[in-house]
Order: sequence, then structure tokens, then C-alpha cells
Amino acid sequence: MYSMMLKKRYIFMKKTFHIFYVSFFCHALWAASLAPVQSQHAMVVTAQHLATKVGVQVLKKGGNSVDAAVAVAYALAVVYPAAGNLGGGGFMTLKLSNGLETFLDFREAAPLGATANMYLNEQGQVIKNLSTRGHLAVGIPGTVSGLEYARKKYGTMTRQVLLEPAIALAEKGFVLESGDVDMLEVAKEDFKKDLEAAKIFLKDGRTFQVGERLVQKQLANTLKRIQQQGDFDFYKGQTAQLISKSSLSGGGLITQKDLSDYQTREFKPIECDYRGYRILSAPPPSSGGVVICEILKILEPYPLKEWGYHSAQSLHFQIEAIRRAYVDRNTLLGDPGFHDNPIEHILSSTHIENLRSSIKPEAATPSKELNPSSFVNEGENTTHFSIVDQFGNAASMTYTLNDWFGARVMAKGTGILLNNEMDDFTVKLGEVNHYQLLQGQVNQIRASKRPLSSMSPTIVLNGNDVVMVLGTPGGSRIITAVLQVLINTIDYDMNIQEAIDAPRFHHQWIPDVVLAEEYAIPVDAQNKLKDWGYIIKPSRLANHLAAIMVGGARLSEIKPKSHVKFGANDPRRNTGSAMGY
Ligand code: DON
Repeated sequence: MYSMMLKKRYIFMKKTFHIFYVSFFCHALWAASLAPVQSQHAMVVTAQHLATKVGVQVLKKGGNSVDAAVAVAYALAVVYPAAGNLGGGGFMTLKLSNGLETFLDFREAAPLGATANMYLNEQGQVIKNLSTRGHLAVGIPGTVSGLEYARKKYGTMTRQVLLEPAIALAEKGFVLESGDVDMLEVAKEDFKKDLEAAKIFLKDGRTFQVGERLVQKQLANTLKRIQQQGDFDFYKGQTAQLISKSSLSGGGLITQKDLSDYQTREFKPIECDYRGYRILSAPPPSSGGVVICEILKILEPYPLKEWGYHSAQSLHFQIEAIRRAYVDRNTLLGDPGFHDNPIEHILSSTHIENLRSSIKPEAATPSKELNPSSFVNEGENTTHFSIVDQFGNAASMTYTLNDWFGARVMAKGTGILLNNEMDDFTVKLGEVNHYQLLQGQVNQIRASKRPLSSMSPTIVLNGNDVVMVLGTPGGSRIITAVLQVLINTIDYDMNIQEAIDAPRFHHQWIPDVVLAEEYAIPVDAQNKLKDWGYIIKPSRLANHLAAIMVGGARLSEIKPKSHVKFGANDPRRNTGSAMGY
């Protein structure tokens, strides 16, 4: 009703005013959100405004999306140290203008010395914090390998050019704004305990204040070595030596051999159709693409639009689809190097129909009634950025240290913060991890294995044309956040900024609760859902989407052959920006 009123007003204004006046002011005046950032040629959206600028500069110099992604990733390691990294790992989904669709996996791997029970005591109990803090929590970092792999194979620029901005930001420092200071505040107690970190991230023992400059000389030197020697330095050279020395002397397991053996892997993205759009997303070792596609396939026959945005009925079917797909996530998926993932089965129409037919029209299915599929063999913090260049190449990249500032330890002498990705494994069957995920045997720790991820760098196509690039941090909530932006744009035709701003909900099978941001579920829908058996709990604001739409601000407005880009940065964090040229 409200949207019809807006439409009528819009038509009236269109008749009355000059077209430019309307198209400029109509969104600004009537849309629920700020208008997305618009640009003619190219767009970059990242979680830190200085890194966004670095990406735009690379594109202006004629670099492509991969060049920009490499420069942005190195810059974020400096200006967004909570999640941007050299000491972590991640994924990149690419759709190039020559038609190529690919996925790079530079996720951390378990060291050779890792074992299934490494975080348990003699009684078989999980030792608190061992998989989340300190050197034993650290997986072999993959970021530098991934960035060099991407640059050499799909980029066009030299390391000299692409690392320069990051080196300058580390060496001369950058002025901290309030969002940057909030971020450092999160880990201040841990910084106090780690001498290396304290020297860099604290100022005379206290957290930095707005307007002060964060200088990272050691990191600048490490970046310079990488600039000169590439991944050789990080995996076989001086940086490698410093990382393994620090790990072994700090109670970790990472040896020189672990580092020299590390390889980026390249896979075909997971692909599915939803209401005429083609979704490309992350394959295992991420669960993201499979689970997003599984949920969309369950939902496709339901008229979500007709049922109304966040009506009790539309939420009920979305939550039930999500609940069922997370059972499969947590029990069937793992590192493809160690496990034959039953993706065909999960996405088969038989399985999807079985799941759909088990949804009751007006009743929640208690999670404990959903038995993991017969395939089971019984025997936060992250950052995402999206880039579309002037040539039509799209790069969607999510990378992480896992927790905010990772394991809260540094590789001595390098300025590098190390991840705590080992906690994404099933540390003990029957116990949840940091994200409350109850995971299965296929994700147990093994030497050289990569832990199951939820990171979902995603690209949406109409035919062969890129129409959307998106992704987010948020641990287990990544999948449902990306899913809701897809539904908001595809089913409800929101513009890209509205789709990101809209309050979100989350469910992950276990715990059996619906987490809802404020206003995500209207009170009358909440009442109905509670009658149908749901437990609804308020949620903090989660996730930080970075998205781009190409050719129009909303899908229904996309003009064929238009290259105008619309960027949307999630307002839930106060450091990022969308910028283009
Ligand atoms: O790979 C994963 O699924 C997690 N390690 C991601 C962590 C994350 O998104 C943290 N951000 N808030």
C-alpha cells in the first residue's frame, strides 16, 4: 500500500518536473535509506574509507578489479587491523568480463602437528580459550599466497604499485577516526598482555584517541619485503622464519614446512538460479554458497512478495528453510581436500522437495526433531569488500582473522596479527564453537585441513551480466545476512542501500532461537510466530555488508547495457565507505 502511494507520487512528480530533478531528488526524498553512492565507471565498497580510496585510485590508474582487490586487501591489513590481514585467510569470487567465473581459496590450514583432540584435556574436555586465544589457535595464514596468486593470474599491475599505498599508510601512519578507535578499544585488555601488540596498538598503555596517528613501522617493513619478494618472503623467506619462530616459542605449531607447503586453491564457484537470476558464491571449504543456494531453492516456489515483507508467513518459511539448510551445513560439509562433499545431493530436487514437504504451515519445527541427514558418517573477525571495475570485472572478497584481531597475538618482529581460525573446526563433537555452531565429524581437525567457513563472497548475474556483488563478515550469520540481501533485492525490489539497511534476523538450527535486530519482526508477526512455537530474542546489530549493484539502484530499474554502479556500505559499522569514479 505504502509503496503504491510512493509509486503514484513518483508518477505525478515525473509528469510535473524535469526528469533530472526527479531522478535525483525522488530517491533522496522518498526512499527509506540514503541513496546508494552512484558512479559512472567503477565502484569500490570496503569496511574502511582509506582502503576504499586506495581501490578507487588503482582503478583510476587503469587497474582492474583484481588489482584493486589486492591493493585494498593490503591496505585493510594496515587501516583495519581487526580483520584486514596478512596473518589470516579468505576467499575471492571472480566474474571477469571475458566470461570467466572462478573462486580462490586461501583459507588458513591446520599445521602438520595439529590433531583432532589438540584442544581437549586428559578427561576429554575442551580447554577454555585454547582454540581462540594465543599461538595454538593459529592456522597457517593464506592471505599473502591468495593475493599473489590472484594478481599473477588475473591482475595486470606490479606488486611495486599495488603495495605502495599500504606501505605508505603503515609507515607514515593514518589519522584515527571514531570508528577506528572503537575497533581498537575492543581488544585493549589483550593488547596489554602482549608486549608486541601493546607497542603498536596502545599509546603509552592506553588506547588511541580520535585524531591521533597509528604508525606501524614493523608492518611497513614486512610489506616492503613482500613488495620485493612476493609470497617467497612470507612462506620461505625472512617473514616465514619470524612467523614460525614466534609460533613455536609461543606454544604454537607452525613450522617452516607448514609455511612452505601452503598453496592457494582454485575452484568453480557454487552456482544456482533464483527467480531468473544466477547466484555465484563460495564452494567448500566454505559452506556459504551451498547453504545460500539450498535455502533459495527451498523458498523459490513460495510467493514471498505476495505474503508481504517480514509477514509472519514469509518469515516462517524463511526460518524453516534456514533451519534445515544449517543442519546440512553443520553435518555434511568440510574441506574438499579431505571429504567428498555431497553437494549434488544437498541441492538435488529430491532433497529440496523432502525438506520443503517437512515444513508445517503454521508451526515451527523444533530443531531437535531435525535429525542430521543419513550422509553423516557416525564412526568474528572478518571483512568483506566488493569491487566492479570500468571493464566489467567483478571481485567479491571476504577475508578474516576469525575473531576481531584474531588470536590476539602477533608474529614477533613482523607487525602481523595472527588468526584464530582453528576454532572454526569441530573442536569436540557435541560442543559448540565461538559462533555457537554445533558442527560434525567431517569438520574435525586434521593436519593440513582447512576448517569449514561461512564466508560467502557472492556475485549475482542476469544472464552473463553482473548485476550485484556482495558479502559480509559475521561468522555463522554471514549466510543469513547475504541471503536476506538477495531476498530484499530479488523478491522485494529494494534498492541496494535499502536492502542492506533493512533490519535482519538469524537462525542457525542450534541454538533453536530466532535472533532479531530491532524492528526486524513487526510485533503482530512476532505474536503469531510465538504462537507457532518460535522463541525470538533481540539481537545486537550484526554483519557489515559491502555491496554494489550495476546498471540501476534496484533490480527493476536496471537498464540493459548501463554501466552505472551503485555502491552501498552497511551503516552498522562506522568506518567503511562506498566510492567510485
Ligand atoms: O570463516 C568463517 O566463517 C569465520 N571465521 C568468519 C568470522 C567472521 O566473520 C567474524 N566476523 N565478524
